[in-house]
Amino acid sequence: MSSDLISYDPSGAVLPEYGLEPDDLAQLAPQLESCRAEVLEDARLWAAGGPVSDAKVPLDAGFHQLPDRLLREHQRHGADSEIARLQATADRLAGEVDRAVVLGIGGSYMGARALMEACCHPYHNELPRAARAHRPRITFEGNNLDNDFLQGLFDLLEGSAGENVASDVGQRWAIVVISKSGGTLETATAFRILLERLRGSCGAGDPRLADLVVPVTGTSGKLFDLASALGCEEIYQVPDGVGGRYSVLSAVGLLPAAIMGLDIIQLLEGAAAMNEHFRTAAVGENVVLDYTGICHLMETRRGCDVRLLSTWGKQLEAVGLWYDQLLSESLGKQERGAMPLTVVNTRDLHSRGQQHQEGKRDKLVTNITVGSNRRDPVVVGHSAMDQDGLNQFADKRLPDILDAATRGTNQAYHDDGRPTTTLHLPNLSEYVLGQVLQMLMLATVLEGRLIGINPYGQPGVEAYKKNMNAILRGQ
Ligand code: PA5
Repeated sequence: MSSDLISYDPSGAVLPEYGLEPDDLAQLAPQLESCRAEVLEDARLWAAGGPVSDAKVPLDAGFHQLPDRLLREHQRHGADSEIARLQATADRLAGEVDRAVVLGIGGSYMGARALMEACCHPYHNELPRAARAHRPRITFEGNNLDNDFLQGLFDLLEGSAGENVASDVGQRWAIVVISKSGGTLETATAFRILLERLRGSCGAGDPRLADLVVPVTGTSGKLFDLASALGCEEIYQVPDGVGGRYSVLSAVGLLPAAIMGLDIIQLLEGAAAMNEHFRTAAVGENVVLDYTGICHLMETRRGCDVRLLSTWGKQLEAVGLWYDQLLSESLGKQERGAMPLTVVNTRDLHSRGQQHQEGKRDKLVTNITVGSNRRDPVVVGHSAMDQDGLNQFADKRLPDILDAATRGTNQAYHDDGRPTTTLHLPNLSEYVLGQVLQMLMLATVLEGRLIGINPYGQPGVEAYKKNMNAILRGQ
């Protein structure tokens, strides 16, 4: 699979005119290596159960070795392993329903959405069931408090509401509810409301209700209690020591991914390969160390504290949004932390492009490019009606035009002295996505250690919740 490895090219940023000499990354190498050793030690300490110094609390380093652990367990325990159980639940649901409503917010939702947009057919939900390989449609909810959207979902389920008793699988739906704490208001509210609809669709007292609800949560808490009271037999756990935004390669992301029909073993294999690469490759050849080092140097030397993730094509927007959350919640603390911003090109060249070309010089562009398409290239084609002037490009294929746009944009940035780097993905397979997600999680914790900010925990998110609850209680 080595040809399927992602790579990082910083050459569009490592230029003397940007204040960066080719040697600068090598100069930073001792610091990066010492932070890598710390991140590896964090994972070891976490697995050993401590001891953890006060300065390191919280230490939610459980995500790091999780892919390796799940794969090992699968090899040893086969059908009894968590991977096999997740797959079995996903396959059971796929056989029983045509839509899975996945409830969750933040880290309990964004990873699954990223996987769906990157790896599934772009019109997965619109395809007839057979063209979806009989996998359910996936609808995300519980990620906001939007009345009309929820009403809209009721309309969508209308054909199914009252029909979970129907013999036609195309009419049936189920709920996957994901919340580590089990008490997040957005998700809990949506779950209460949709559970009643699901109950109504099954008919009173139907024992299958419990089979049509699959929770992913902690080992205790309100959701766990509710699921137990419902009689749900398959309750998946968000492992201890794995924070929400680091949980995509736990049941939180793996269960929805398996329901969509993605290969979760390949996802985990990709992440495990990234772990090995991170642990062993030297600075200059290590995507995690190099990406972190260049971002850090550009921020400290040139004031580039806006990290622009420039995705090319449509399928990586949700990966970018997942990363926006990861970086913001992990390092946006103590009035520090770079500002992530995902753009989707060429779309956003027609909206944000002006600012990125001529606005403040506070941005480092990281392009994400994809080597090969899944489908045959579409050709522009010759037309007898050449009023659009496109016959000159008649033999061009869409990937050629996207490539020209990518190169043209980066040239324009370069000509105006604006730094760019590129994270190259050979394709959008599960194996590659596993690498990318693990790489960005490792880079985030590595940077935290480099700048002295604990990348775990999100104390700032509590403030709004406290106020909202007080307002709701009328205090
Ligand atoms: O990264 C995080 O920890 C958060 O974004 C959480 O995932 C989010 O707040 C949802 O929390 P929970 O899974 O407890 O409902």
